[in-house]
Amino acid sequence: MGSPPQLKALVFDAYGTLFDVHSVITECEALFPGKGASLSQLWRGKQLEYTWLRSLMGRYADFSAITRGALTTACNMLRLELSEAAARRLMDAYLVLKVFPDVMDALSRLHGRKLAILSNGSPAMLNAVVRHARLDQLLDAVLSVDALRIFKPHPSVYAYAAERLQAPAGAIGFVSSNFFDVAGATSFGFRTFWINRTGATPEDLGYQPAAVLSQLTDLPALLK
Ligand code: LAC
Repeated sequence: MGSPPQLKALVFDAYGTLFDVHSVITECEALFPGKGASLSQLWRGKQLEYTWLRSLMGRYADFSAITRGALTTACNMLRLELSEAAARRLMDAYLVLKVFPDVMDALSRLHGRKLAILSNGSPAMLNAVVRHARLDQLLDAVLSVDALRIFKPHPSVYAYAAERLQAPAGAIGFVSSNFFDVAGATSFGFRTFWINRTGATPEDLGYQPAAVLSQLTDLPALLK
């Protein structure tokens, strides 16, 4: 097998890949003792589901509105009473999500190629969380689906990244922990890397990543 073509740019998913969406558990647990972990799981699940449903419906709402709606549903499912103040506190927690411990090291070592985020997040949410984590110095671009008003894994989203980064799809490496996103990006033509930190089961969607890594810090060596 010949060596794969040099990658001109690396594009990262944000939520679940660079930022730990479950760092909201602390706030969830403080507001609803004993329910923090299940609320966080349900909240994230509904959030993704709503991006797919809204895209199919042709009724875009930005990721902040989606996330707020998903929170209401998750609380209703657990029979938790969500006050406006509690909702605000949980939504604010999304703006200060923790980065996974392998992120800073990996991104610093990947320097030299164009590095970008491509996310479902709204520009305001992404800018806040990126600045809070001090990732802005390491990234060349933070791209949001908001420009297109449709969510991943719609192919137009990946095409938008290729256009903005001025690189052909085959010269873009796409890095995500979300398998549906890896499948979408592979189908579009990116070379994909699935970061599977939790031993998740790969999905049978017809498109598999070029490589599966258990941590982001394994990526620099792989691309040498
Ligand atoms: C994102 C979603 C997939 O950041 O979490 O685009």
